[in-house]
Amino acid sequence: MKSAQIIEITRFGPSEVLKIREEPISALSDGEVLVEVKAVGLNFADIFERMGLYAAAPKAPFVPGFEVAGTVAEVGLGVKNLTVGQRVFAVTRFGGYKSYVKTDQALVKPLPDGFSYEEGAGFPTTYLTAYHGMINLGHIAVGEKVLIHAAAGGVGTAALQIAKIFQSEIFATCGSPAKIEFIKSIADLHAINYKSQDFEQEIRRLNSGKGVDLIMDSIGGRSFRKGYRLLNPMGRLIIFGLGDMMPSGRRRNWLKLAYRYLTLPRFNPFKMMPDNKTIAAFHLAYMFESVNRLGKAFAQLLEWANAGKLRPIIGRTFPFEQAAQAHDYLQSRKSIGKVILTLD
Ligand SMILES: NC(=O)c1ccc[n+]([C@@H]2O[C@H](COP(=O)([O-])OP(=O)(O)OC[C@H]3O[C@@H](n4cnc5c(N)ncnc54)[C@H](OP(=O)(O)O)[C@@H]3O)[C@@H](O)[C@H]2O)c1
Repeated sequence: MKSAQIIEITRFGPSEVLKIREEPISALSDGEVLVEVKAVGLNFADIFERMGLYAAAPKAPFVPGFEVAGTVAEVGLGVKNLTVGQRVFAVTRFGGYKSYVKTDQALVKPLPDGFSYEEGAGFPTTYLTAYHGMINLGHIAVGEKVLIHAAAGGVGTAALQIAKIFQSEIFATCGSPAKIEFIKSIADLHAINYKSQDFEQEIRRLNSGKGVDLIMDSIGGRSFRKGYRLLNPMGRLIIFGLGDMMPSGRRRNWLKLAYRYLTLPRFNPFKMMPDNKTIAAFHLAYMFESVNRLGKAFAQLLEWANAGKLRPIIGRTFPFEQAAQAHDYLQSRKSIGKVILTLD
């Protein structure tokens, strides 16, 4: 029987809890596909999972990972439109940090034209997140003013590319001069370093006192309050992350977390109605069962990717065995675009 290399979160804690081991690959069921993995996409959620701060995650030990790319190694009975040797990417609900991934055919798609394995592994999660937030919930219209936080990151760079398709006037925040330079190189935008500038004041200054129509916010804390204030009438604040809850040290600090939780804003419907402002929130991990409802999003994203309008930005790759170093790098806030693990 063939075996796979897998990387597990053995218990909650710092990156050393990630351990590699071998696991036998069981036989395929009908409709399943075995992918020989060449690249694994990392997500900020993987860090939350490892720290034990991700409610949707299984109990440790478990294998993290939401996305891989590679070649089809085997197909089960009833698999249509996928053949052995084909270059593909696949979506997983955990279980992506593996050298072979077994999954349902519906979650495996051919790589878009010209995509490398690294780009394929960096595609599904970030672009689906940006699409669902900006299009399904945010109803982005051509020419609107859009604010994107953590704009140099995985989801952030995907959101910048979608905003470009909609010819948005883009305001984008990130946390270092290097990231500011980088985001300016991918779109014509107003770049704001939130560490040295107050983004609310800066946007009003740049915008003759006015606000924005759509906000993609994965930061939380004070930024939700400021974002709500910044919305123009009919504006939409899309909440999809709580980066601010990430511990700055190697371990969880329950007091700090409790403080951050208790100081999250509570929005008042009596105020939201006359303000005509919308707040929407989502979490893809809880939508996995209804992933078919995201079929339209996937089809549109693939069309844009094949037309050259979207291309994942791969900031850095690490060999598969160095998942711990890759986690430390993503958690350091220095990463740009996607961080990817590669396999030979
Ligand atoms: N709801 C969903 O379905 C869903 C799906 C995917 C991702 N997400 C969320 O979207 C966000 C982006 O995900 P990603 O994987 O693309 O990560 P990423 O943006 O590549 O990396 C995270 C970035 O968040 C920013 N950040 C803000 N506060 C932070 C803190 N306290 N500690 C560390 N980083 C902090 C940092 O950038 P700056 O300092 O430059 O701002 C950092 O580089 C995450 O919050 C993630 O949980 C949600």
